[in-house]
Amino acid sequence: MSITPSQFDRQFQLQDLLSAADQERIASSLSLLLDRQVTLSGPEVPPPAGAVRSALQWELETIGHVDIVGGDEVQLKACVNLIVLLIKSAARFQMASDLHIETVHADYEALQQKHAALQESENRYKNLAEQLEQKVAEQVKTIQDAQSKLYQTAKLASVGQLAAGVAHEINTPLAYIQSNLDSALTYLEDLTVLVDLVHKGAEQTVLQKAWEEQEIDYIMDDFPQLLQDNLDGVKKVAAIVADLKIFSNIDKSEQILDDINTRLKTVVKMILHQLPEYVDIKLDLQEIPSLTCHPGHLGQAFYNLILNGSQAIAGKGTIRIATACDTKEIRIVIQDTGAGIAEADLPRIFDPFFTTREVGSGTGLGLTVINNIIKAHGGRIEVQSQVGKGSTFTVFLPLNPLE
Ligand SMILES: Nc1ncnc2c1ncn2[C@@H]1O[C@H](COP(=O)(O)OP(=O)(O)O)[C@@H](O)[C@H]1O
Ligand SMILES: [Mg+2]
Repeated sequence: MSITPSQFDRQFQLQDLLSAADQERIASSLSLLLDRQVTLSGPEVPPPAGAVRSALQWELETIGHVDIVGGDEVQLKACVNLIVLLIKSAARFQMASDLHIETVHADYEALQQKHAALQESENRYKNLAEQLEQKVAEQVKTIQDAQSKLYQTAKLASVGQLAAGVAHEINTPLAYIQSNLDSALTYLEDLTVLVDLVHKGAEQTVLQKAWEEQEIDYIMDDFPQLLQDNLDGVKKVAAIVADLKIFSNIDKSEQILDDINTRLKTVVKMILHQLPEYVDIKLDLQEIPSLTCHPGHLGQAFYNLILNGSQAIAGKGTIRIATACDTKEIRIVIQDTGAGIAEADLPRIFDPFFTTREVGSGTGLGLTVINNIIKAHGGRIEVQSQVGKGSTFTVFLPLNPLE
């Protein structure tokens, strides 16, 4: 704060500098010392009779008088000097205390302003924080929604991949069944020519000629094989459709008693045609007890694990699928001789959206879905991997998940 000169321009009166009691005390002390009547009075008061008088000056103004009854000039000057000295120190004290009061007052005002400003900015920050909190909550909700959509998409994507594979698997027998049926129709037409001749009572030589022309020997040879192939094809389609049933209850919540080895074999059968020729699958399934589970969910988890394994294999490679068990749990091992997983990536592979695949070719949700499915069965999944050698995913499923 700054001090304004006005504080020093103040006009003092005698009573401002010396209280009436002090004036009285000084006058009586001086009277006692000089053995004369000494009085201090204001500027307008007349002197007592027989007194010498001197004005008291302060800042060129007469603020009062000193009177000594029967005194001389020397005594008067000494008294005035003494009183002026007292007045000076009183004035200094006055000014200092005024200044102190003003300073304190100004400090207090500044403090109050600062407090008000602080309170305002605190309110502003409080509002901002509240708005921010709300915005963050909205963003989190948006991200959660998007994630759950993606999670569903990833689930559907693997179902879609499966459907594409199944379509291919069914198309192959369908194609030769159709072509065989076309041949069968032609054969029937050829045989009809002969049947017509028989009906007309044609001679043996005519029949013989027609027999050769219609290549009936070949037809009689090929027809049974053709029908047998068709039967095999139809059986194959029926088997695929039966296998598909394990995926049909993917959204059902009931658990059923199921044999994991059978499920693994079915999944392998479904996935086989999707794998490149250089990927070999080896099954090493030991006898294990049946398990109360969601076969569709587990099928999906195994399917994703095998798919990941095959995607890690660039050249020739093998995926080994093994099962084993002890009294407490079943172990399912899916081991590949693929690229392996970098040590730095290993702790992150189960994180949602973690993928090392090119943009658009992996969602990074495969292992998240797998992990959720295994956890829902009270189990756990472990991974070991060595770059350049391959990876081993081991699924542990408790035999009695409720215990
Ligand atoms: N068998 C495996 N071999 C090597 N890396 C794997 C294997 N399985 C998973 N990974 C790694 O984990 C990542 C996450 O896998 P996943 O959750 O299935 O998502 P996505 O297959 O869509 O990338 C993969 O991108 C890959 O880097
Ligand atoms: Mg994957």
